[in-house]
Amino acid sequence: MKIKTRTLLRTGAVAGAMAGALCWTAWAGPADGLWNSNCASCHGKDGKGNTLMGHKLHIKDLTDAKVQAALTDEQATKDIKDGIKENGRPVMKAFGGKFNDDQVKALVAKVRSLKSGK
Ligand code: HEC
Repeated sequence: MKIKTRTLLRTGAVAGAMAGALCWTAWAGPADGLWNSNCASCHGKDGKGNTLMGHKLHIKDLTDAKVQAALTDEQATKDIKDGIKENGRPVMKAFGGKFNDDQVKALVAKVRSLKSGK
């Protein structure tokens, strides 16, 4: 009985550590890197769109609670995967071919985290 409990505890600890490591790689680290190297040129590191491209393309302030409220996760996922066109002209390219689903998910979470006050 004693051994069983200990084995269970150990299995739990290993599973917990693995889940933690997965979370770390899937969410925290790379999303910032992905954002900074692929998105910040237009959206800005802080997401305010306060860049040359941001002004040119009238990019919304992603730290604005109203902008965040109007944007669903589904829409953000679609925007990142399929890109955005304005009057038939692509203003944001499609990243669906570049990133896998986990990376897109991490970027959606990154977009969410830009909201000010968070
Ligand atoms: C070439 C410039 C450019 C790059 C690079 C770029 N975007 Fe965009 N993005 C835009 C434009 C233009 C829009 C449409 C205007 C707007 O909604 O602010 C937009 C809109 C969005 C939206 C929808 C915002 C809303 O409120 O509807 C999301 C989400 C988004 N981008 C995420 C990203 C992510 C994530 C990346 C990097 C993987 C990225 N963008 C890279 C130009 C860019």
